[in-house]
Amino acid sequence: MSASHAHAHGHGHSHGHGAEGPSTVSQNKEYFDKEAADYDKKHGETQNKLIGEIRSRLGFIGVQRVEEGGAREKKGAEEGPGNGRTVRVLDYACGTGLVSRALAPYATQCVGIDLSESMVATYNRQAENQGLEPSMMRAYQGNLCDPQDEDPAAFASPEFTEFDVAAVGLGFHHFDDPALAARRLAARLRPGGVLVILDFLPHAKPDASHPASSTITHHGFSEQHIRGIFEQAGVGKDFALDELETEFHFTKPDGFEMHRRIFIARGTRA
Ligand SMILES: C[S@@+](CC[C@H](N)C(=O)[O-])C[C@H]1O[C@@H](n2cnc3c(N)ncnc32)[C@H](O)[C@@H]1O
Repeated sequence: MSASHAHAHGHGHSHGHGAEGPSTVSQNKEYFDKEAADYDKKHGETQNKLIGEIRSRLGFIGVQRVEEGGAREKKGAEEGPGNGRTVRVLDYACGTGLVSRALAPYATQCVGIDLSESMVATYNRQAENQGLEPSMMRAYQGNLCDPQDEDPAAFASPEFTEFDVAAVGLGFHHFDDPALAARRLAARLRPGGVLVILDFLPHAKPDASHPASSTITHHGFSEQHIRGIFEQAGVGKDFALDELETEFHFTKPDGFEMHRRIFIARGTRA
């Protein structure tokens, strides 16, 4: 058993273990490379609702408007993202950029990272179309969750550290080891920075006919599970979890409709 799987099972998840077939990472890459072109068309309505829900929780997350940014200069206001002149967001498993789009008006820079080259290309095309310079919004292909590579050379420069916010939108249920992901992301936050996770609450295991079933490792997360992940990653300070009003809605090719309840969780790096 590799380090990535050296955790207790029993909270309802499955892996694409290497020896038994393609790894979760390669399954995800392949699946989302194919999905990228149509992803926003397919999920546009849900994405817009989620963007609204994220923006309605800026206080909960701890992001203030950049315009209010001089606050870090003021005495006693040194903690929390947005209190400085810059708000730098790491959007991990960024896909086409849902979380970046939600937070861009409040951020000075959004940096996306995703396994899928096509997702990254779509993210960057959209940023360009909006007239955003790469210094403001740009995504890169990569994996911060490789158990064998704690500090990937491609992400060693200062551009990839000291973030005010690190977020994963609907990515955790695709990771072999979300606890490892949380640690790797927490390490890229500045002290006082915030980890934000959006994902599904516990749900029944989808059957094998679900087109993405081979990419899914976790069938949702309980509040207790997520809180534990934040705490072990050193971002348990002021942990909070809120259920969104929006459900993720998906119609399978056979017409069967699936709904997933979504949470947003946040915690501060001490
Ligand atoms: C359901 S999509 C969500 C995309 C976007 N964050 C959103 O909320 O719309 C999941 C994304 O996670 C990416 N992904 C899966 N496993 C990953 C990993 N280990 N590291 C980085 N990205 C990963 C996939 O390529 C895909 O773009």
